[in-house]
Formats: sequence, C-alpha cells, structure tokens
Amino acid sequence: MKVEIEKLDHFGRGITYIDGKVCFVEKALPGEIVKIKIIKDSKKYLLGKVVDYYKLAEDRVEEVCRYSDICGGCNLSHLDFKEENNYKCMKVKEILKKFGNVSSEKILDVVSCNEYGYRNKVTLHGSNSRLGYCESGSNSVFGTESCLLADDKINEVMEVVKKLAYTEQIEELLIRCSNDSSEVMVSLTGKVDDYSELVNLVDTLIINDEVILGDGKIISSISDKKYYVSSKSFFQVNKEVTKLLYDEILNVVKKNKPNKVLDLYCGTGTIGIYVSDYVNKVVGVDYSKSGISDANVNKELNNCSNIEFICDKVENVIDSFDDIDLVIVDPPRAGLDNKTIDNIKRIGADTLIYVSCDPATLGRDLKLLEDEYEVLYVKPFNMFPRTYHIENFVELRRKNNG
Ligand SMILES: C[S@@+](CC[C@H](N)C(=O)[O-])C[C@H]1O[C@@H](n2cnc3c(N)ncnc32)[C@H](O)[C@@H]1O
Repeated sequence: MKVEIEKLDHFGRGITYIDGKVCFVEKALPGEIVKIKIIKDSKKYLLGKVVDYYKLAEDRVEEVCRYSDICGGCNLSHLDFKEENNYKCMKVKEILKKFGNVSSEKILDVVSCNEYGYRNKVTLHGSNSRLGYCESGSNSVFGTESCLLADDKINEVMEVVKKLAYTEQIEELLIRCSNDSSEVMVSLTGKVDDYSELVNLVDTLIINDEVILGDGKIISSISDKKYYVSSKSFFQVNKEVTKLLYDEILNVVKKNKPNKVLDLYCGTGTIGIYVSDYVNKVVGVDYSKSGISDANVNKELNNCSNIEFICDKVENVIDSFDDIDLVIVDPPRAGLDNKTIDNIKRIGADTLIYVSCDPATLGRDLKLLEDEYEVLYVKPFNMFPRTYHIENFVELRRKNNG
C-alpha cells in the first residue's frame, strides 16, 4: 500500500491515515511517499512497516549505525540532527500545551551538543552466547560490538567483553565511564569464571555485587565539582548536556539568591552540590541507598558543609519542610505524586525548578501547580540525541495570590 507521511508522532514515528484510521510507521519522515505493509491492525490504530521508499524527505540522512535495522535504540537516526532538535522543540510545545496549558512562546529552542558518542553508560544483556542490546520491540538479544551513542572508552570495553559471552554466562553487564573518559567501571551479574581480560581493562570491576577490583566507584567532574558514582546510582548519561543543564540551574540560583534550597530526587547529590557555593543551606532527598551513600561521599569530596541528605521517599518527608526559598525537583518519568504537589504549594518557595525527562507528566504536573506557580520559561535539553527522548528545564515563580 502506497501512503504519504504527514507528520511525526511523539515517539518519532511517521503518521499517515488509512480510511480515516491513524497508522504509525517507523523510519518514515513527513513528506515521504512509502510503500508499507500493515503489521498490526487494532481497533484504534494501525502499525505499518516500510517496504519501499518512493519519495524521500530532504531532511533524511543515511543511517550510520550497522544495527539500525534491528536495534530500537535510535528512533531518529534517519533524520538530520538539526531537524531532530526542531522536531523535539515542536513536540515539547504540543505536549505542554495539551497537558500543561503552557503557551508556546514560553518554550525556548532546544539546547544540544554532540549527536553521537555522548553516553557515559550502557547496559548489555546476555543470552545464548550473545551480549548486547535487545532487538526493537522484543526481548531477543543481538550481539552488539559497539554503539555510536556511547563514549569511545565504553566501545573499547564492549569490543573485549563481547568475547566473554561465548565462554561465560552473563545475565547483565553495565559499563560506565567517567565524564572525561579516564575511568571505567564494569558491573555484571551471572556466572563468570575467567575475568582476567577485564582486570587489565577497567578501573573497577563488580561481579554479582561484589567489588573485585577498585573501590566500586568512578569519579566524574562537572565544572569544578567532582562526583563519585557507584554502579547502582543514577547519574545523568550525557556528559556535555548535563553540564549545560546544571549551569542553567545555577544561573537561576545566582539570579534569585535563595537562602535555603530543597533538592528533591537528588540522586548522588549532584545538583545540590553544584549550587551549594551560592546558598546557605541545601537539603537533598532521594530514596536510593546507593545514591545517598554516594551523595554523602560527594559532600566530603567537594568540602560542602552546608548540605544534608535524607534517604527516604520524597512523599514520606515532604510535609516536614518549611522556610524554603527554592525547590528543585527532578523526578523519574512518572513525575510528582499528589501529596508532593500539595506540599510544594504549602511550602510556597518563591522559585521552583522542575527538571523532567517526560514532557507528558511534566505537563500534567505544571497544570496541577498552575494555581500557585507561573511558568517563566521552559528550556528543552537534548540529553538523548538520535532517540525521541527529551529533557526539560522549567523555571516557575510563585504567584502573588493575595
Ligand atoms: C532523574 S533522577 C535525578 C537525579 C539527580 N537530580 C541528578 O541530576 O543526577 C531521579 C531520582 O529520583 C529517585 N527517586 C525515584 N522515586 C523516588 C521517590 N519516590 N522518592 C525519592 N527519590 C526517588 C531515583 O533514585 C533517582 O535518583
């Protein structure tokens, strides 16, 4: 069946309509005329797969990854990178208008850096003598020898660890490198007898949660701050964009000069520590034991005497805070729960910074905060180039409600 693609959906798929029913087509761009076969026909939508291209879009680029046909990682690697950023800006505008009632003028251009080689972490899965990523839309593992999204240092390690899949029974393998690529960590689960090749290659090696080599952590610098990160803790994946995002937060702190800052969902304490020189007191909250353990090491490493970290769910402790001038939230994709939203309003800090990796839940939460907080601006950061994902920074100001 021959169809014309009208636009991209929020997952980077082409959209066309067949007899009035929406049809999503992967790897198809607006303006393209393609031959598709229908691979799913559900009540509400169709899924199509391109069999042939009749007319290509001008902003189509050749895919440079050898796994692009099987791997589901890079949904946008066939789109020119500048156009990817334009698409992401449009997507944020659409979603925040729909769910958050945020007007498009408040959404700035996308900030981005390198399109490839940006990831400081990859997770590979082991299965049937293969070690790699899962095939698009399935749990089936294909052998992955390299990944264009990953730092060169990670690719060096991938080249070596692929051999382990033949002789050892690896379930999962995480490779994480420091932001300057000088240190690398491998943490794996499974049954591994001979890991001698890894010992010469990595700075820290963890097997089934036991530290075999090094101290189980690597150190990354962002600007003048240093961060220890262990294998289980969250750490932003894009080394260059993370610095720009944290600088944006720091600028808001410098502009508003808050006395006391609450850093909710603080991970390893990165943001709180980043702004700590400019405020009197920071309190960070995260429920991850490894995250808070690393945060306390990071506090010492950066000589921060004005930070306190609490290891608990935000929703368990949020009602204990008062007298806060600036609240920073950086929740997981699910966004904020109602109790946290209500307490953010009760605390009534003058400034609220919302960092989000899911525009839909961000929009929902901005709507729920709307009676007390006005959105000043939204800045999208392309933390995940070549995928459909986008990170957003929002500065909000408390409304003068009388
Ligand atoms: C997107 S990360 C942000 C980390 C940090 N702000 C940074 O920039 O590295 C989200 C964090 O929220 C934490 N988290 C998820 N749900 C939570 C909850 N209900 N209460 C506290 N922390 C939570 C996770 O452990 C993770 O560290």
